[in-house]
Amino acid sequence: MKPFIYLPLWFFKTRFLGQNKPLQTVLFITNECNLECRHCCVYSKDHIITKPYVQIKEELEYSYNLGSRFVDFEGGEPFLWKYNDLTINDLTFLAKKIGFFSTTITTNAQLPIIDSKADSIWISLDGIGKFHDMIRGEGAFDKLEKNILESNHPNLHANMVINNLNHSNFEDTIQWVKNNPKLKSIALNFHTPFPGTESLSIPLDQRNEIIDQIIKMKRSGYPIMNSISGLKYMKKDISNKYCHLSNFIHPDGTKRGECEGKTLNLCASCGFCMSGEMRAVMNLKPDTLFAGLKLRV
Ligand SMILES: C[S@@+](CC[C@H](N)C(=O)[O-])C[C@H]1O[C@@H](n2cnc3c(N)ncnc32)[C@H](O)[C@@H]1O
Repeated sequence: MKPFIYLPLWFFKTRFLGQNKPLQTVLFITNECNLECRHCCVYSKDHIITKPYVQIKEELEYSYNLGSRFVDFEGGEPFLWKYNDLTINDLTFLAKKIGFFSTTITTNAQLPIIDSKADSIWISLDGIGKFHDMIRGEGAFDKLEKNILESNHPNLHANMVINNLNHSNFEDTIQWVKNNPKLKSIALNFHTPFPGTESLSIPLDQRNEIIDQIIKMKRSGYPIMNSISGLKYMKKDISNKYCHLSNFIHPDGTKRGECEGKTLNLCASCGFCMSGEMRAVMNLKPDTLFAGLKLRV
């Protein structure tokens, strides 16, 4: 079924008939990473898992059969994934063949982004220069900048996670994205305190002030992916009742119908911008619906 038929039908059944089907899949294909970010607890150095192609195929088909039509390949570092002579482009082809409408990759941009077949690529950018390196390691920003400039991908976006190490740099980071001819937009998130990373959180009142400033910048034309409605929902009540709109399949193969943060009881301090965006979508906020369709379809 084409997106313009599937999506309104999915929305109607979910919003008004109580349907409980995901629309998006976050699929972790490896936990191997070439960075050791201070805010992250997904990567592993001692117990590396690289999922075999057949397992990923089964997980894509499982998610598609649940109802999902968008897939984000995650890690670890997804561009490290290789299986025999297959690369992540083969996973992108596979997802499209199964019927997914679009594929995205979230990457740290430490490897070249050349000839990727994903529909869009999200580059994790946690500040400019020393701010990014403080979280992601010495030299990571320079590599990221070079790989962005040399990329031939037409649909690159940045993804920032604001925490207590980089909060003073978020405006400069938004400005940097605006000035970068290769980047189309930036999504702004806040740190979610997964176990062991609690000390990076920022207090809610400070976070709300930052959101107000992001809204101002968005209104004055900065290329911010978050919708104003989504940002407002992030301020109001950040625990979310729509997180089941994404399903997650973890590096060890665990399948979850919603974010791990819910299992860990972290919803009240969730920083993922998708929580606000999903809420705005389900409340039919036109700015969010328009931005979501533009980005995904
Ligand atoms: C786990 S990383 C994996 C993909 C890739 N290696 C990268 O760095 O983008 C995916 C995204 O999750 C974000 N992330 C990691 N830990 C987080 C946390 N505690 N709270 C919010 N976002 C987090 C990262 O900044 C990144 O944008």
